[in-house]
Amino acid sequence: MHRDASPRRYLMCPPAHFRVTYSINPWMDPAKPVDLPLALTQWEDLRDRYLSLGHTVELLEPDATLPDMVYAANGATVVDGRVLGARFAFPERTGEAALHRDWFRAHGFTDVREPDHVNEGEGDFAVTSTYLLAGRGFRSSPLSHPEAQEFFGRPVIGLDLIDPRFYHLDTALCVLDEAADEVMYYPGAFSPGSRGVLARLFPGALIATEKDALALGMNAVSDGRHVLLPQAAVGLFGPLRERGYEPIGIDLSELLKGGGSVKCCTQELRPAPAAP
Ligand code: ARG
Repeated sequence: MHRDASPRRYLMCPPAHFRVTYSINPWMDPAKPVDLPLALTQWEDLRDRYLSLGHTVELLEPDATLPDMVYAANGATVVDGRVLGARFAFPERTGEAALHRDWFRAHGFTDVREPDHVNEGEGDFAVTSTYLLAGRGFRSSPLSHPEAQEFFGRPVIGLDLIDPRFYHLDTALCVLDEAADEVMYYPGAFSPGSRGVLARLFPGALIATEKDALALGMNAVSDGRHVLLPQAAVGLFGPLRERGYEPIGIDLSELLKGGGSVKCCTQELRPAPAAP
């Protein structure tokens, strides 16, 4: 099957002040040293990949007091040009939300909502053409789901995350082709009921193994053809190719120490700008 890429617009934040000094997910061990220059090089490689694929990358200025800010996906959710801001679950990240909202207001987005309920942006919201998939259980409040549904006017499907290693939806599920509602996911991250919901909605989904999920293989970004994913998730490359995708392995070993990878570093601004 031939797959077409479509140009995207992403928001990223360089890991200039990245460090692991607290632990708010099981991946974070403050005793493990982080190689900051390597983190920067790896992040630049990811950004350069997007650029060479023809995508637009916008930059958010990093703040020295917010070491997790590199995980830009968590700062907002943008659909149809409307921006639902984030509200973080942990005080260590609270300050990021306003910096995201300020960025949007300064860049011509007029519909920017400061949310009432805790939601960690695209960490827990995933967009297909039919649904807004929404994770809950560790970070985003279940009350953020109706709030997002009302704001975006899209049907929200709530999904219960049950394994603390997969604390955000984007560590457990990835939208490969939003137009075709095609996803990949790791069933073990979800409650039995949510597994049932996913099986009904996405009978043709690519099902990941625990091994690939533990390499954060679900934390991937697809443009409809190219799927950028952690290179250690080797078991996904064959199945992605069989479906006509072009997997591109990315090494973000340093950012894995904070509990994130490709998708966490990449917020998608939907829609992308019209072609010049
Ligand atoms: N250290 C960050 C946190 O625990 C990592 C966030 C990863 N981002 C993501 N979209 N899953 O909040």
